[in-house]
Amino acid sequence: MAKLLILFAHPVFEKSRVHKRMVNHVRHLEHIHFHDLYETYPDLDIDIKKEQQLLLEHDVIILQHPFYWYSAPAIIKQWLDLVLEHNWAYGAKGKMLTGKKIFNTISCGGSEEAYKKTGRNRYTIPQFLAPFEQTAHLCNMLYLPPFVIHGTHRLSEADIELHSIQYLQLLVALAHNRISEEEYKSVTYLNDLLPVPEQVQS
Ligand SMILES: Cc1cc2nc3c(=O)[nH]c(=O)nc-3n(C[C@H](O)[C@H](O)[C@H](O)COP(=O)(O)O)c2cc1C
Repeated sequence: MAKLLILFAHPVFEKSRVHKRMVNHVRHLEHIHFHDLYETYPDLDIDIKKEQQLLLEHDVIILQHPFYWYSAPAIIKQWLDLVLEHNWAYGAKGKMLTGKKIFNTISCGGSEEAYKKTGRNRYTIPQFLAPFEQTAHLCNMLYLPPFVIHGTHRLSEADIELHSIQYLQLLVALAHNRISEEEYKSVTYLNDLLPVPEQVQS
C-alpha cells in the first residue's frame, strides 16, 4: 500500500462548496493523511522540520486547492519556499524526495473550454501548472497529471458529489498502487483514468 499525504489549502474553507464535499469524502480514509495547511498555520509560520518529516513518511503528495489567479493560494507557495530546502529536496546532496509522486488537485471557476489555446484563458491547465511540474522534476519526484474540476460556479450539489466520489476512487486506486506509469502518462487529467459518472458527462 502507498501512503498518501494531502496538503490542503483553502483560505476561506467555510465558504467552500467544492472542496468541502471532496474533503468530507477523503479526510478519514485509511492510508491518507489529510493536512489542512491554513488550519495548522493561520499565520503562515510553517514548521519546516515537521513538514519534511511528513514528506518522508509518505509516497504520494497531493496539493489540493482551489485554482486562484491561475495558481495556488499563498500558503502553498510559502510551504514550497520553506520546506523544499536546498541539499534536502534538491541540489547535489538533496535527494530526500526521490521517486515520490506528486500532483495537484484543483477546482476552477473556468470551464475546460476556457483553458484551451483559443479559449479566454489562452493556456491549458498543465501549462499553468508548469512551475509545479518543474519543481517536482528538480526534486527528483514524479509529477502526475492533475485532478481537475472545472466550471465550479455552475455545478450542482449532485455534480460536486459525483466529482467527489471520482476523487475518492482515484485516491483509493493510488493507495493500492493500481495506476501504472503508462496509464497516468497517457492522460491530461487523472480524472480521465476513472469512469465518469453519467450525470456529469454532458
Ligand atoms: C481569489 C480568487 C481567484 C480565483 N482565480 C481563479 C482562476 O485563476 N481561474 C479559475 O478558473 N477560477 C478562479 N477562481 C474561482 C475558484 O477557483 C473557484 O471559486 C473555486 O475553485 C471553487 O471551489 P470552492 O467551492 O471549494 O471554493 C478564483 C476565485 C477566487 C476567490
